[in-house]
Order: sequence, then structure tokens, then C-alpha cells
Amino acid sequence: MKLFRSLQHLIPFVLIALAFSCSPKTEEPVVGLIAEKAMVVSAHPLASEVGSTILKNGGNAVDAAIAVHFALAVVYPEAGNIGGGGFFVIRDKDANYHSLDFRERGPLKSHQDMYLDETGEVIERKSTKGHLASGVPGAVDGMVKAYDKLGSLPWEDLLQPAIDLAEKGFVLSPDEAAKFNRAVENFQTYSSIDPVQFTGKAWEAGDTLIQNQLAETLKRIRDDKREGFYGGATADFIVAEMERGGGIISLEDLESYESTWREPLIGNYKDYKIITMGPPSSGGLIILQMLGTMEDYAVSNKKESYADYIHLKTEMERRVYADRAAYMADTDYYPVPVADLLNKDYLKERFLTFDPEKATASASIKEGKLLSMSEETTHFSVVDEMGNAVSCTTTLNGGMGSSVVVDGAGFILNNEMDDFSIKPGHPNMFGVLGGEANKIEPGKRMLSSMTPTIIEKDGELFMVVGTPGGSTIPTSVFQVIVNVIEFGMGMQEAVNQKRFHSQWQPEVISYEKGAMDESLESALTAKGHVFAERGGIGRVDAILKLPDGRLEGGADPRGMDTAVGF
Ligand code: GLY
Repeated sequence: MKLFRSLQHLIPFVLIALAFSCSPKTEEPVVGLIAEKAMVVSAHPLASEVGSTILKNGGNAVDAAIAVHFALAVVYPEAGNIGGGGFFVIRDKDANYHSLDFRERGPLKSHQDMYLDETGEVIERKSTKGHLASGVPGAVDGMVKAYDKLGSLPWEDLLQPAIDLAEKGFVLSPDEAAKFNRAVENFQTYSSIDPVQFTGKAWEAGDTLIQNQLAETLKRIRDDKREGFYGGATADFIVAEMERGGGIISLEDLESYESTWREPLIGNYKDYKIITMGPPSSGGLIILQMLGTMEDYAVSNKKESYADYIHLKTEMERRVYADRAAYMADTDYYPVPVADLLNKDYLKERFLTFDPEKATASASIKEGKLLSMSEETTHFSVVDEMGNAVSCTTTLNGGMGSSVVVDGAGFILNNEMDDFSIKPGHPNMFGVLGGEANKIEPGKRMLSSMTPTIIEKDGELFMVVGTPGGSTIPTSVFQVIVNVIEFGMGMQEAVNQKRFHSQWQPEVISYEKGAMDESLESALTAKGHVFAERGGIGRVDAILKLPDGRLEGGADPRGMDTAVGF
């Protein structure tokens, strides 16, 4: 029985992995799961099942998204969370747009120099591991805010599937067992307990993972909503954990945390309306700047033109990531010039130096250094039968966040403080660069790249899309949009394509294995580009509304991501 369950668990992954294809456009298009009415695509098959069951029981897309978010905190602890934060972009059935910012905030005791030694040098790992790395978590307040405005089923029904998964456990795949075994050392260094209750024996595929403390925390959230996390026993556990490990998140931080409804960022690309996340994420601005620039250029994925597309994309990336470092931050603390950054004349002006035959040296665009972030985040997309759509990207920042587990409460805290510029004007240990705009301030939200996005065509829902991937998030979302709109691919095929990424500094095009062939490499080399092969870029989970009204899922074969619908 155990063996059967664990193999069954892997079937979607194996089927999708078999369908993995390469750029440029493949001869045999692959098609994702097609559903008549409703669909969830997430990073874990069990979380997608939870969301689909909520939809079948009459819940709307927001209900399903909340249930998926809590389920991911149990079955996908490297990024699914209650100790982190994220963003919702929602298009309701009446075509009203909403975006919810439940990003973490700098604790009240945080300050600009908190990761520097007495000589002003960055102290290694201080912003990425351990108790000082965490921002004040926003996820639970975000789920409650979304529910209070747009939810429909009883709140308890949205928590119960996650509670059951934590209490009764779920069966680990080989990859999951290996992942938890890899994380053990950090948990032992930074936590007094391990969220997955490591017992000294290595996890194996087929083992059942039970998380009792987490189940109790989820029950408190089920029974007391916001107060079940930001007050009472859970808050006491968080504060005690901070005191034990020298952290600074206080009861006042927890009590005063508020997620915020913000105006979604809306732009047009040809006949399409793009509804996406504005600051404190940079993701929406980046894709709108890139699409706004690309509108003046014809692109194709035909073999003879593909190098021109990759060159154009790289040149756009160099310019928009330079803007990101200089201008983007939390608008509550810094006046991000959103309209100016999206102004068509500004985008044209920025591209006057574009040469279709030659790479522009990044140093000549703007001074700066590598922007790179840890890439463990997760995204899911939901569409219900009424026509409501939710795009949610949520994160602990790095894989397993700060590696601090709140003893007694059984969940992992984020290491989102590293998304601030920990020393303005200087790269941190991972090369993250930022300026004054994104400096650490108490209560401020750290700049994100998350890009939950919904696209309309002719006033109708067209696509729901997003991905994890740190600084590669906006460029992965961009490529999937272009694959569908410009290259005519379906959703699964668009998601499967091998990806490229560049970001101004370093001056390199990184690409997934198999993305580059000899002719593409020599065409791009002739234009002055240099390359670096790297592992998977992003894990896009997306839904496309087909012309006949059905839904096609695009579940990323780079992970266990799964589409479930009916
Ligand atoms: N922590 C990843 C991001 O927000 O971009």
C-alpha cells in the first residue's frame, strides 16, 4: 500500500517530464491537461488536488487559492508557507481587478546596518540564515484579508485539508526525501526543532511525513483566523523563538502587521491587457517595461530569427534590471516613478542605444553589479467555473527560508530580509545589489521580483501565469507570455520551452541545458554575447483559456507541478 501510494504520487511528474521539450518551437506540440470548467496548477499534486476539491464543492477561485496556500505550507515547506509572504493578483468574474500585498515587513527594531560589522563590512549569512534573517510574516493576514473580501465557503473548510495533510501525513517521493535530507544540517544549526521532525534517520521515498506542531498551529488559525497566528499561543511561540535565537521580531511587530490591498499594475501589449503586481514587487514593472519596448519589434521563434529574439530580450533585460536597482522599492517608503518607468517615450529613449547586431556593454548602460537572489519561491494559478481567476506567488525567499523553525508552532520562518539592500550601493554575499531606495527601514517591505499576472484579451480572461525564480521570475513570465502570444504555443508547450535569462549584471546570458544549439550560439556570439549554462530557470504554473472556453493547464515539468481540473 505504501509503495503503491508513493508510485501513484509520481505519475503526474513522470508523464509531464516525458513531455518536456526544447526551444525553438518543437514539431509536435505538447498539450497540457484540458478542463471544461475549472483548474488549479501548483507546485505539488496534493495541493492542486486540495484546490480542485474546494472548487468542486462550490468554492470560488479565492477559496481554492487560500486552501492551496495553506496546503503548500504543509506539503511544500521549502517555499509554501505561513512564515513568509507573497502577492495575490485577482480578476473576479465581473472583471474587477484586485491585488493583495502580503509581503513581509522589516521588524520595528531593524535598521540599515544590522548586517554589517563594526568596519561596515557585510557579515556572511546574517541576512540569509538564522533568526535575524526573517521579516515579519504576512501570509496568514493575507489569506484572512483575501477571504474577508472575496471568499465564500466557511473559513474552516479552507484550513481543514492542510490540517489533515499535516496530521495524517503524506508520502514522500524520492526527490522530496532527498530534499529534506539536504536541509537537515541547516535546521540543526539554526533551529531547536526540525519542521519535518528529523529523527536521526535519513528520509526515504515512501516514508510518511507527519507534522504535528504545524497541524496545531493551523488549527489555531482555523479557529481564530488572524488572532490564531499574530496573537495567542502562536505569537508567544514566535516571540520565544526570537528570544532563544537572538532575533528581533516582537509581539508588537506581529500585532501591527497588516497586508494591503493595492492598485494592480495594468498595461497593454497589442490586443492584450496585462494585470500584474506593482511595487513592492519589481516583477510587474519589469514585464511591462519589456513588453512595452518589444511592441516596436517583430519577433519570431523560427530557427533563423531566434538569435535576434534572444538578443533583443537580453538588451531589454539589461536596461530594465538597471532601472530595478536604481528606482524600485516599497512605495510606502520610496517614491517609485511607476508612470515614468512605463512611459513609452522613456522606453524608446532607453532603447536608442540598441543595436540589432551588437550587444551593448552593461557598464555603458549603468554602473552596477550582479543582481541575484535565491530562487525558492512558489506560484499557483486558479480559475473557477464562475470566471474568477487568482494568480498567487508566495515565498520564504531561500529554500526553507532562514532554517529557523518556530519551536512549538512547527513552521519555518522566511529569510526575506536579504531582499533589502543590506548595504545600499554594495552587493551582498549573493551579489544582490540595491541602492538607497531599497535600504532597510522598520515596517518597510523589501523589494521583490514576484510577478503574479493575469492577461485579458478583448475583455475576456486569457491567461493566468507566474513562477518562482528570484530575479529570473519576471523574465520567465515574459518568455511564457511571448511563447503564447507571439509564437502561437499552447499553455503546456509554452511552459515546457527551455528558458534564457539575463539581468544587466553580470554581462552574461544564462540558459538551461538544451536551450542553446550551435547555430544559435554562433549567431549570438557574433553579436558580442557570452553565455553560461545553468540549472532550471523558474517553475511556471499557468492556465490558458482556449477559444472554445475550456482551460489548458501548463504545469512546469521542472518540478512535481501538477494541473488538476474538471
Ligand atoms: N524572495 C524572492 C522575491 O521576492 O523576489
